[in-house]
Amino acid sequence: MSIAVSAPPIIRNDRIEIRPVGGAVGAEIHGLDLSRSLAEDEVKTVRSALFEHGVVFFRDQELTPEQHIAFAERFAPININRFFKHADGYPTIAEVRKEPDQKANIGGGWHTDHSYDQVPALGSILYAREVPPTGGDTLFASMYAAYDALSDGLKATLEGMRAMHSSRHVFGAANKKNAEDRKGRIGNAELATQDATHPVVIRHPGSGRKALYVNPGFTLQFEGWTVEESRPLLDYLYRHASRPEFSCRFRWQPGSMAFWDNRATWHYALNDYQGQRRLLHRITLEGVALS
Ligand code: SIN
Repeated sequence: MSIAVSAPPIIRNDRIEIRPVGGAVGAEIHGLDLSRSLAEDEVKTVRSALFEHGVVFFRDQELTPEQHIAFAERFAPININRFFKHADGYPTIAEVRKEPDQKANIGGGWHTDHSYDQVPALGSILYAREVPPTGGDTLFASMYAAYDALSDGLKATLEGMRAMHSSRHVFGAANKKNAEDRKGRIGNAELATQDATHPVVIRHPGSGRKALYVNPGFTLQFEGWTVEESRPLLDYLYRHASRPEFSCRFRWQPGSMAFWDNRATWHYALNDYQGQRRLLHRITLEGVALS
């Protein structure tokens, strides 16, 4: 099937420029200093760019943890992460850290954060404090584009279906993979009890667009189907949705920020910087029930 993804236009006003980074997902926002309190129309501009492009990127921001928190709170209440270590003194900031002697990274596979929650998080605001000289990029994929490119037949099949998502196999005690390596970064395995079902195709609460809402990290099966029955269709959807045409790649620098929408995107943190430190601060925002 051919995939039509046309590049959205660059939008400028006298202060802010929104520059799409690819045909399907992601836009850089220039002209905003996030260390100061944004005006209401600036918040509105960032929010609508986020809902349209799925992820927005900022460069060269110099933010204290307090300024990062203040920026986040303009969009939604903060969700305190149950599993990630917090930045010292800042319970609302989760650390995405990998030390030179650690092998596993956080988020190293396609996923949508918090899909295992009854009310999944709106998105996250990730701010780079220390990044390796090369490697450690993050990939984002548009679930709007993935949905749009499905055939009418498969769209009709998926309409009305629901899928079950879980945190247990990732953050629970059952996950023994890299247990030693993750110690001190990921914890509270006993709190990994969340399972939730959500529609397989959601209507995005901000943009009104339809998006595919299953992901390789947390989705286990379709409601009313066995795991074995679900696997082939989930695998097909994962192959389809991870097509390069639907994705973009973000190269981090100190002071870079990515603000993504979990309802419209997947993301994938590349683990190609062994022996180097990478430290980012993540603030996650509360979302609304999906339908
Ligand atoms: C995450 O999955 O939240 C981490 C993303 C990253 O480190 O780039």
